[in-house]
Amino acid sequence: MIRPRRLRISPSLRKLVEEVELSPSKLVAPVFVCEGRGIQKPHPQLPTSYTFSVDRLIPYVKSLKKLGIISTVLFGVSKKKDAKGSEALNSHGPVVKAIEAIRNAVPDFLVMTDIALDPYTDHGHDGLYKNGEILNDETVQVLCEMSLLHVRSGAQIVAPSDMMDGRVRAIRRRLEKENMKNVSILAYTAKYASSLYGPFRDTLGAKVKGDKKSYQMNPANRREALRELRLDIEEGADMVMVKPASWYLDVIADFKRESDVPVAAYQVSGECAMIELGARAKLFDRSRAIMESTLSIKRAGADVILTYFAKDIAELL
Ligand code: PBG
Repeated sequence: MIRPRRLRISPSLRKLVEEVELSPSKLVAPVFVCEGRGIQKPHPQLPTSYTFSVDRLIPYVKSLKKLGIISTVLFGVSKKKDAKGSEALNSHGPVVKAIEAIRNAVPDFLVMTDIALDPYTDHGHDGLYKNGEILNDETVQVLCEMSLLHVRSGAQIVAPSDMMDGRVRAIRRRLEKENMKNVSILAYTAKYASSLYGPFRDTLGAKVKGDKKSYQMNPANRREALRELRLDIEEGADMVMVKPASWYLDVIADFKRESDVPVAAYQVSGECAMIELGARAKLFDRSRAIMESTLSIKRAGADVILTYFAKDIAELL
């Protein structure tokens, strides 16, 4: 008789035939950095995700490394906001200092940085914004400068999250021109105009004027993501990303099937906060929900997962 349950009968058998596995080295821990000293502030809905001043950052990064996590993605948090997001290009800002500090203290740690203007614009948009419109090509120029600044400070990977057209090509060209040949671009390739970014925007203190639907993708669209995929790879992306993750597993599976570059997925702040709140309300067990959600993202095809639970997962493993 054919009995599929045979392979489920003991923990060892279940482990032997397990199809996908989470591992700390494939998890990227998002870290928020701000000005000041002595700051390590947990997010109210994401108690294991922090905003740090640079002086508090290194012990945390070392604790990640001890658990087998080898990469972080840095986001700036700033009160200095204006229409142009000028602070994005401040060569003495906290992101630059954080990159330098991490590369000095933990040289082999991979530092990627989010490339977009929204932490620094008073209108909350990822790009330059005039008369209700996002200026695509002008924004791309600023993103190139921002990438260059981060790479000069030591970032090994830049991750443009702005969804402007042509930005991967422009950043790639700019980096080549500056002889920065070994810097990877992780493109936020299919980034959807999602309801799930709320807790992140709270951290940034970003209030978006209107919405981001003229650049982030329509959640109804699956085939359009393949177009973005083709373009980003043609333009020189080394890795591609789907964001958010859990509600877009079909898109992750498509990317895995249709491309030959590493596929990343971003379990965003709202996804993680839902799990925290559900666990707090005793709807389910927190650890099991964290593991199941990220395992699903992995099973769908993600090679790399950006998640606020990176450290929690590494501890659970
Ligand atoms: C924007 C950016 C966003 C996130 C990462 N980069 C938010 C947005 O598009 O408004 C969201 C991440 C999260 O919710 O965890 N550059």
